Formats: sequence, C-alpha cells, structure tokens
Amino acid sequence: MSPPLAPPAAPSPTPRAVHPADLAAWKRAGRRFTMVTAYDHPTAQLLDRAGVPVLLVGDSLGMVVLGHDTTLPVTLRAMLHHAAAVARGASRALLVGDLPFLPARAGLERAARAAGRLLSQGGMHAVKLEGGGPTVALTAHLVARGIPVMAHLGLTPQSVHGLGGWRVQGRGPAARAALGSALRELEDAGAFAVVLEGMPAEVGADLTRATGLPTIGIGAGPGCDGQVLVLHDLIGLTVGPTPRFARAYAEVGAAITRAALTFQEDVAAGRFPDAEHSYP
Ligand code: KIV
Repeated sequence: MSPPLAPPAAPSPTPRAVHPADLAAWKRAGRRFTMVTAYDHPTAQLLDRAGVPVLLVGDSLGMVVLGHDTTLPVTLRAMLHHAAAVARGASRALLVGDLPFLPARAGLERAARAAGRLLSQGGMHAVKLEGGGPTVALTAHLVARGIPVMAHLGLTPQSVHGLGGWRVQGRGPAARAALGSALRELEDAGAFAVVLEGMPAEVGADLTRATGLPTIGIGAGPGCDGQVLVLHDLIGLTVGPTPRFARAYAEVGAAITRAALTFQEDVAAGRFPDAEHSYP
C-alpha cells in the first residue's frame, strides 16, 4: 500500500475544475500559469494535487517514455492508453491530449473521429493540434463539433523533418510574420490557447501581445502568458542532455539511481529484508 498523497503544495489558480475559458481569463488578469506533461496515473495525481492547472498528455511520450527519436511513431492507441491513465489520476486540471502525427493528417473526418476518441475514451477535455496551414481548417472543424482545440506553433515536433531538424523558428522578418498570420488564423478558427515552442524570446513576447489567445511557451521566453515543461525535464528524470529552455526542479533520476544502488547493496549485505519488513 502506498502512503496517502501529501496535500497540495501550491494553491491552484482555481479551486474548481479548470476549463478552457479560464486560460483567457488568466491572460486578461495578467496571471501567469503553468502546464506540465503527464503520461501516467501516479504523476497525474501528484501534479493535479500540486495545483498544476493544465496537464498535457503530449505525444512527447514517444520520446521521453517510449524511447523513440521523434514523436512521429506515436499512435492514437498509445495516446488513448496514456490519456485514460492520466484522466483517472486528475480531478481538477484541464486535460489536453495531442492528436498524433498520422490521424492529424488523415483528413477532416478521420482526424475528427480520432480527436473525439481522445475525449470520449481518453478522458481528455481538449486536443492539441500542431502547426498552421491545413491545421486551421481542422481546428475550425473540431471546434464546430464541440472539441476544444489548443494550437501549437513554432518548433512543432511532428514537422521536425520538414523544418530541417530541431531548429529555433521565427528568426527573421518573414518567418516572424508567418507565425503572426498563422496565429491570427488559428484564433479566428476558434482555438482557445496556443503553445509557442522554440522561438526567440522577443518573438514569443510579440505574439503574446498581438493575440487574445493565451500563449503557453516552451523555449519561447518569459513574455508568454504561461509556461509548459515536459515532466521528465521538470523533475530531472531525463537521461542525457536537456534542451536549453528546460530547468530541472528536482533530481528524480539521481534519486532512482541511488535507490537502486542502495537496494542492491542492502540485499547483498543481508540488510534487506530485515525484521520490520518481514512477516512474523
Ligand atoms: O508533446 C508535448 O509534450 C508537447 C509539449 C512540448 C508542448 O507538445
């Protein structure tokens, strides 16, 4: 049996369940907020109880949990599996699930069906769609069917090959203007928020000022309305180098290694199990 979870360490921005419209209200009030990725039940419980208002079941799960080089191999089935586990662990956070690479490109109807499954079977409250261009029509299509959409612009990982690698986006006037017009189109299409990823801080701040949409930055500087981190980067569980924008607020990876080493030493030395951990 695991011990009861600790009470929330931080007050939540809202004592009730978080809705998409809350993010716009926080933007208007100048209240910065956070989003964190979650992929399983226990971390969803911990993040929810810590007051994190938005949990993202990101397709980054392909890289940080499943060991792929990109997010492209992530299937709808895998997303549903992880989303449902997260949904069972969170009672208050707004839950957003990524529409993975293939269904997002399968045409409006199939994409809508996949997005609908993220809500009906995965327990998500909203989906996140990467990019502008064809994603604008899909955003409008989903919003018209009652599926809230979070947009995602800049270094969009599902387009990593088209972008020529993991490169900072929005450098130079033309690239900056393209981001601005994509953002306007997504706002008009009915998105309720936008992730801005991998762009100069000045571009993140300019886009944030120019839009009514709450912006959630990751590698987009301090001028965004909110900030998102991948859980494994946030808690120091990423093995190997982390991106420049990531800050580890804990050393969970080191704690796991230490625990595993000590366990082995204790077993080898006959210190575990002791009387306390044995049945009389
Ligand atoms: O998949 C993901 O985790 C994301 C965040 C990095 C925004 O899209």
